[in-house]
Order: sequence, then C-alpha cells, then structure tokens
Amino acid sequence: MRPYDLILKKRRGQSLTDEEIDFFIAGYTKGDIPDYQMAALCMAIYFQGMDSRETSALTMSMVRSGQTLDLGAIAGRKIDKHSTGGVGDTTTLVLAPLVASCGVPVAKMSGRGLGHTGGTIDKLESIPGFRADLSTAQFIEQVNRIKVSVMGQTAELAPADKHLYALRDVTATVESIPLIASSIMSKKIAAGADGFVLDVKTGQGAFMQNFQDAEDLAKTMVAIGTHVGRETVALVTDMSQPLGYAIGNALEVKEAIATLKGEGPDDLLELCLHLGQEMLLLAGQADDRRHAADALQQKLESGEALECFGEFIAAQGGDRSVIERPELLPAAPHVAAVPAPSSGYVTGIDSMEAGLTAMTLGAGRVTKDSQVLADVGIELCKKLGAAVRKSETLAYIHARSQEEANSVTGRLQQSFTVEEDPPETISPILGRITKADL
Ligand code: URA
Ligand code: CA
Repeated sequence: MRPYDLILKKRRGQSLTDEEIDFFIAGYTKGDIPDYQMAALCMAIYFQGMDSRETSALTMSMVRSGQTLDLGAIAGRKIDKHSTGGVGDTTTLVLAPLVASCGVPVAKMSGRGLGHTGGTIDKLESIPGFRADLSTAQFIEQVNRIKVSVMGQTAELAPADKHLYALRDVTATVESIPLIASSIMSKKIAAGADGFVLDVKTGQGAFMQNFQDAEDLAKTMVAIGTHVGRETVALVTDMSQPLGYAIGNALEVKEAIATLKGEGPDDLLELCLHLGQEMLLLAGQADDRRHAADALQQKLESGEALECFGEFIAAQGGDRSVIERPELLPAAPHVAAVPAPSSGYVTGIDSMEAGLTAMTLGAGRVTKDSQVLADVGIELCKKLGAAVRKSETLAYIHARSQEEANSVTGRLQQSFTVEEDPPETISPILGRITKADL
C-alpha cells in the first residue's frame, strides 16, 4: 500500500477499506507517513466525506493507536457523558455527583478548555486543593468506593487523534463531520465506558452553528458508538446563549453547588435532568423515563447529590467545605457592572463573544499552554427574554484589576442585543438521536 494511492482514491470520492484506513493511521502514528500526506488525506475527506463504515474504522484505528482504559474492575454499567463544547457549560459538575448518587458509576476523563469554551478540569481545579492527576488505579479505586471520579485525560489515549487534531487545526480541516465525530468518539471509546450520552451543542456559541449540522454530527457519533457495540444516545441542545449565568472556573463551581441545592438556573437544571435521565436509562438504573426523572429529583431534594459532590471533592484532595461555604472559592478582586444601553427585552447574547471575553480575562486558554485563572469570569444577570431598564445591570465582570474589567465592559455590553419586543423562547433540548434514527 502507498499513501499516495489512498489519498488519490479518497480524492476521487471512493471509499477506503478498513485495512487502508488502519494502514494510514498506524503509519502516521509511527511517523512513517509524514504530516503533508496526512493533511492531504484530511482535505480529501473534508471534500468527499466518509460513509459510516469508514468513519467507524477511522475511529477504531485511532483507538488502537494508544492505550485503552479497562474499567472492568468497576462493577455496573459505566456511562460517560460528553459535550461538544459550550460556553458556561457547567453540566458535568452537576451531573457527575447527581447520577452517581443514583447508583451509576461515573468514571470520567475530562479535558481542559481551549478558546471560547472552558474545561471541566480547569473548573474543578479552582476548588482549593483539588487534584485531577490521578493514576488509573486511584481513579478506579475511587469509583468503586464513592461511585465518582473525574481525572484529566492522559496523553496515552488515542495519541493519533492528538496529532491529527493539531494538524487539522493548521490545515483548515477541522470542520468535517467524519473527522470531528471520529476524533471525539476515539477518545471516549479509549476511556472505556460501556455507553455514551452525547450533548451536541448547536447555535451561535457552538462548533456546529446550525441545527442540521449538529444533527448530522449527532447521527454520525451515534452510528460509530452503535457500530462498535457501545450504546450511544445524543441530545442536540441549544447554545444560542451561554448556559446558566456563570462563565469562568470558580464562578461555575459556585453555580454547580447552587444547582445541586435546587437554587440554580433553570436552563442548566433542565439540561442536567435530561442528560441524567438518558444516563440512568443507558446504565439500566431506571426502567423508564418517569422513574429516571423521579430518581434524579429525589437525590436533589434529599441533598444526597450535593453530599456526593462533597465526597468527590474531598476524595480528590479538595476542600469540601466549599459546599456549605462557596465564599471559600477564589473570588476576583474587581467586579464591574455592565449596564443595559436601552430599555426593552434581551433578544440575543452572543455566546461566542461572551466566551472569548471570559477567556481574555484569563478564565480560558488562548493557546494550549496558557495558564488559566480560577477567579475571573462573567456573571450574567439577564438572559434571553428578560425585561431590562436602561442602565440596569446586564452582567458583572470579575477581573484581576479595574483596568482589565473596564477594558472588556464595552465588548460584553455589545454582545447583548436589547430590543422592544421579547424574543421567541427556544427549548434547551432541540433533538434526540438514538440508533433507531440512523
Ligand atoms: N473536539 C474534538 O475532540 N475533536 C474535533 O475534531 C472537534 C472537537
Ligand atoms: Ca454556567
């Protein structure tokens, strides 16, 4: 086999065999196939696409490029949740303890944030003392003991994807559904869960800005999961505005604690409940949706979900008293209000801009190697549909200095659209894809 012939074959729109795909990925991983040939293949895939068999083969070749985690030592069906990336997406912090308190083992590997979206590990590390650099033995032992652990993703899982993603990033080949789907699913499959609940975001702050693309990505990922014997369900969810009110690491931990106390934002809670129901159903912890919904509600109301969050924090070295006293979390020294430019209704919040503003303040990463700050970010006061009076506060900026706060006030104000008439309401859950929809 020659890389040239396979590039040509894909460029002409033909399907590659499983062996051909494996040859390419294995060769690339070993360094036998250079970046320029891999980049050319990515560009051919970008234009010609891949069918469902090819996409599954590509995924599994990337899984085989490195180690896989064996979660066999954990009893029960392990269900992982993955979001394609949103702004202010605090769901994992709420969901992990919530479904764990319902009996689902949560053994989750998470990433760090990049660009306008934050990462779960960065958020958790804003809790004083919290550590995500566990060994896999510690990780597994903790899930067996308290049902939940979240660790940073190790470089040994799907290394082919790591190189390929970096290559795609500089060759204008990120935005290809088969390449995105195989990239995400290879990391999830390598991390060892039995089933997956995918949260595919759509809207202005998401990777997939229009619904059709998001639905296609959801179907492609569900097809891969199904093909390789891991039951997979995807929800297509709204990211036309940031999720909840908080954007930023410690601010989102506070928001998660409030949500687990039943005092959180409605949109975040509703999304967590929907994703949680899917997780309980896939795990076999509930017979039907009604039972799943009741179980989640009961664990929230009884305080067991919050208690589980505390236990999880303590197990990973963190200060669990933040649960009772969120004021112990890092807080930025300067807080500035963003006033409404006019009276009316909020009809738009540019979540991409809000995410990038939070990143500029230091809550996120400009490059892979940037340091993130725990305390800075944005606290929205008004969301879509809210009535506002001129000069009323739309949001608070949490910054390290007054100058930094002032430097982004105008930008954040402009990311809000205020008009005379209220907008139509958008449901947080826009679609649900299972293997029956393929
Ligand atoms: N996230 C990933 O992990 N991979 C992609 O290709 C796109 C988003
Ligand atoms: Ca949030």
